[in-house]
Amino acid sequence: CGIVGYVGHRSAVEVAVEGLGRLEYRGYDSSGVALVGPGGELAVEKRAGKLANLRSALMSRSLPEATVGIGHTRWATHGAPTDRNAHPHTDCRSRIAVIHNGIIENFAELRAELEDDGHKLLSETDTEVVAHLLERHAADGLAEAMRRVCRRLEGAFTLLAVSADEPDVVVGARRNSPLVVGRGEGESFLGSDVSAFIAYTREAVELGQDQVVELRGPGITVTDFHGAPAETRDYHVGWDASAAEKGGYDHFMLKEIAEQPRAVADTLLGRIGSDGLLTLDEMRLSDQELRDVSKIIVVACGTSYHAGLIAKYAIEHWARVPCEVELASEFRYRDPILNRDTLVIVISQSGETMDTLMAVRHAREQRSRVLAICNVNGSTIPRESDAVLYTHAGPEIAVASTKAFLTQLVACYLVALYIAQVRGVKFGDEITQILDRLAGMPAKVEEVLATMEPVRALARSLADERCVLFLGRHVGFPVALEGALKLKELAYMHAEGFAAGELKHGPIALIDRGLPVVVVVPSPSGQRVIHDKIVSNIQEIRARGARTIVIAEEGDTAVEPYADTLIRVPAVETLLQPLVAAVPLQVFACELATAKGHDVDQPRNLAKSVTVE
Ligand code: G6P
Repeated sequence: CGIVGYVGHRSAVEVAVEGLGRLEYRGYDSSGVALVGPGGELAVEKRAGKLANLRSALMSRSLPEATVGIGHTRWATHGAPTDRNAHPHTDCRSRIAVIHNGIIENFAELRAELEDDGHKLLSETDTEVVAHLLERHAADGLAEAMRRVCRRLEGAFTLLAVSADEPDVVVGARRNSPLVVGRGEGESFLGSDVSAFIAYTREAVELGQDQVVELRGPGITVTDFHGAPAETRDYHVGWDASAAEKGGYDHFMLKEIAEQPRAVADTLLGRIGSDGLLTLDEMRLSDQELRDVSKIIVVACGTSYHAGLIAKYAIEHWARVPCEVELASEFRYRDPILNRDTLVIVISQSGETMDTLMAVRHAREQRSRVLAICNVNGSTIPRESDAVLYTHAGPEIAVASTKAFLTQLVACYLVALYIAQVRGVKFGDEITQILDRLAGMPAKVEEVLATMEPVRALARSLADERCVLFLGRHVGFPVALEGALKLKELAYMHAEGFAAGELKHGPIALIDRGLPVVVVVPSPSGQRVIHDKIVSNIQEIRARGARTIVIAEEGDTAVEPYADTLIRVPAVETLLQPLVAAVPLQVFACELATAKGHDVDQPRNLAKSVTVE
């Protein structure tokens, strides 16, 4: 969910709605605001559906002249996305309003206790119990009430509350769920991430776990749940509001696809230190510790998991360390074998995905080291890890990941090379040679982007299909999985990715006359054998009636006779091919979904960062 809070001199409803507009990618099942007027008038408005519904509801009613308020955009967990279940939720007296992100695990018990006490709860949400618990302690003041309530809550939460009794205050709290403070001139902000207030200030304050923050005008007071003053860290946000706007594109996703050459180049920037060696951002692991690593496990979700699958090929090939890849949601529950010699690499665009965060904690509890690859500076996952490599994709707003994915690939290559360097498997020249090739990739991605019109036309022509399959071998296999995921996410179509060699062991039964099958073909100048094998696979499916859509490098003539549609990408070595081969698949899914009339930035049922398990 997206959260925003404001105390200052501006119109709170404007700040809240502006912030929610920027946070809508975090959830858009419903939204709402609570405003406190100077005389203590509390106004709450909330609506199911997208933010536009809330905006029009706000236009049609009179509101107090409030300069204090909170706003929420929801991704439903407890209770359907209805007006009633939308946040904010209020107490019995309608004097306290609360918004929440996360899940309060002991809410049933708390609800029963409150109902026994005579409280009437109106919604099915876990959030409403917090408003009623705050009411019980209202006499202590909002901040102290929040601390007392937080001590009773189990689970993960970011909470924001306002009270009619304290019209100049917003109180926030966090446990395992994101919340940052924005420091302005005579005003302060709260947000689930900095985009909530980036239009007003780029000065931010990082909060730690289990902290309560009180905004009172420009004053910001942070304590732990017991009231002891807490340490915080101030930081400056390196990008501005325009980076989080569409800049002339119809959709954020189109803009983000177009930004990929820049994002890849930025992620490669400044990686060679004064000693001529490859460096990472925050390395709290010694070279000896990296030399002692006997196994690497890459853990991630969604698109980041696909980047992880590609990382395995690079790590094992370049650094010669055994590497497994695992979905974060499966990882800790299967009792994985972890010890001091295991390096866990977690990949997360947002740095807030709960499944991945829990994997970090589990790995560290088992004394394993954790290296995070992340796009959001100061987010929870890098903060809790031993080492960090930041990707520099800039803010990614569209729910389906594109530029972050490409930069994650770059980061994975850099990590593989770094480990190879430290372990002495690869030396200066070899590393420089690969880095030079990586440095050439932004231009190659640019080339791909310049030739996408036929891909768009193809996508439009397939808008009525019910199913598309994707095949690949080697690193082309995870690319196929990613191509299928993009189509599911955006076009709501049945799409599956398979290892081309596995086809004959089952999936080939799916091949039917006219079924579109996208095949990612590795470079013939790499391992010739995998190239030739996939050309045979294309013939096998074509013989059974499939409509073949082949992604192959320039000059690969062997595929020509078997491709119903041929999509060319620049020739690059096989390991780096995902950087160019993924791009047509992003464009394909985006265009096909647009042709079907779907909102590509905010696909149904999804959220950008899922902060519940
Ligand atoms: C959500 C998003 C996906 C994303 C995944 C992992 O499910 O919808 O696009 O790949 O989370 O997110 P992360 O921020 O951890 O990379």
